[in-house]
Amino acid sequence: MEPFYVTTPIYYVNSTPHIGHAYTTIAADILARNQRQRGAKAFFLTGVDEHAAKVARVAAEQGLSPQAYADQIAVVWRDLPERLNASNDFFIRTSDPEHKQFVQGFLQRLFDNGHIYQDVYSGLYCVGCEAFKTEADLVDGKCPEHDREPEWIEERNWFFRLASFEQELLQLYERDDFVLPGFRANEARSFIEGGLQDFSISRAGQTWGIPIPWDTDSVAYVWADALVNYVSALAYARPGQDLIPTFWPQVRHLLAKDILRFHCVYWPALLLGAGYEPPRQLFVHGYLLLDDRKISKSLGNVVDPLDLIDVYGVDPVRFWCARAVSFGQDGAASILGIHERYERELGNDLGNLLSRTTAMVARYRGGTLRASPSPDGSIANAIRPLASDVAASLDEFDLTGALERIWEVVRILNREVEITAPWQLAKDPLLADDLDRVLYDLVDGLRAVAVALAAYIPTTADAILAALRQPTGIEWANVAYGLTAETHAIEPATPLFPRLDAPVE
Ligand code: MSP
Repeated sequence: MEPFYVTTPIYYVNSTPHIGHAYTTIAADILARNQRQRGAKAFFLTGVDEHAAKVARVAAEQGLSPQAYADQIAVVWRDLPERLNASNDFFIRTSDPEHKQFVQGFLQRLFDNGHIYQDVYSGLYCVGCEAFKTEADLVDGKCPEHDREPEWIEERNWFFRLASFEQELLQLYERDDFVLPGFRANEARSFIEGGLQDFSISRAGQTWGIPIPWDTDSVAYVWADALVNYVSALAYARPGQDLIPTFWPQVRHLLAKDILRFHCVYWPALLLGAGYEPPRQLFVHGYLLLDDRKISKSLGNVVDPLDLIDVYGVDPVRFWCARAVSFGQDGAASILGIHERYERELGNDLGNLLSRTTAMVARYRGGTLRASPSPDGSIANAIRPLASDVAASLDEFDLTGALERIWEVVRILNREVEITAPWQLAKDPLLADDLDRVLYDLVDGLRAVAVALAAYIPTTADAILAALRQPTGIEWANVAYGLTAETHAIEPATPLFPRLDAPVE
């Protein structure tokens, strides 16, 4: 398998994390974990974007230097992937000295390659977006994203010749999986076809940022600094080892539609200008909505994912993120939805299945499972295509479809219990072989399902394998029927998802 490199946007540290940030981080983690299960060499990067004007403003409000403020708040951001049980290989901060140095080298390459010139920018700037705006971007004079009037700025800046990359960019879009989903690719393409404007890669009159190497009175525009993190991290994440040759350009960037233009248009052009390959793929997902509005700090309806984890545990939150909204689409989120999935799907469909299966092996067979597979049976047939189906969906970033595919098997296993009624079989000694076969299918099916679920709900997958007394290996080849050997000492499992009283308000 080819190496796999997945990234989240690096998040602004002007406020604390919310469920929207957790959403992208969880999605990237599911992809990274699945790739590792399938034997790929994977690298998963996340981190924070510190040199934003809005960060400097918040710091000033708090009477701190931007760096002191960033150092303080970086702690909760670094904690986010940890609390989400995300398996990121590195956490980048754009104030890392190695990143700063790399950005300077990158900008110098653009300059040396003749893609930079000096000019005056006079126009609008939205600090919320950290973006230069035109009248056409505004609704009633306001940035629709932040419901705020942009500021007028006039600065002598360094410009990147974006317009000269039009043809090369359009060529990239001939690859029909360069940007996914397709409707996002169309959005980006029509933006390019609408005519590209050169953009400023520097800001004058600011001190918070990375100095422009050939003009140290200016600092890098925050996007010209932040985007470069995707390459710079590879250069210094492992001291003494350059990971760029291994992982670039095999990168999959995950992002939401708010920053499509920067990632799908500016970033490939910057890379080409600096002499790097453009990214392999970009996946643009929708917004997680709460009460039909984007969850964001400025709109004041933030749900702290850490609170949800305290109540439900991390796996239910991960499960809900992948399942509640079809990944790629916008979708409404509600805490009641988490609670309902916790009880019905995790508690009943999966948790009870494990409880019943282990209890029956304990009661009817003294905890010993005989190896009695039915290679032509319905469970074998349900499980056989699972590994390739799930892998194929995940290769298209269809986190929701892949999970639904696994859940189909969970439902089939539950139906098997109802159809075969092992408690009836147990009453008749002449049906002992039948009972053995049913118990085998349930244990083996749950084992295969646990391995398939390991990227989504890693702790639960481990717990299922442990309760079934099965080897802990989660290699993808284990998503197959009939691998369970005779097993001893299976005991009734403790509930995976204990009942909780009431939804949190
Ligand atoms: N710092 C820039 C990104 C630089 S990347 C080189 C930035 N930061 S951000 O903190 O605003 O993060 C935006 C990203 O957070 C979105 O693109 C998305 O990945 C995630 N999300 C934030 N709110 C979200 C939702 N409500 N729903 C889904 N994703 C959300 O932009």
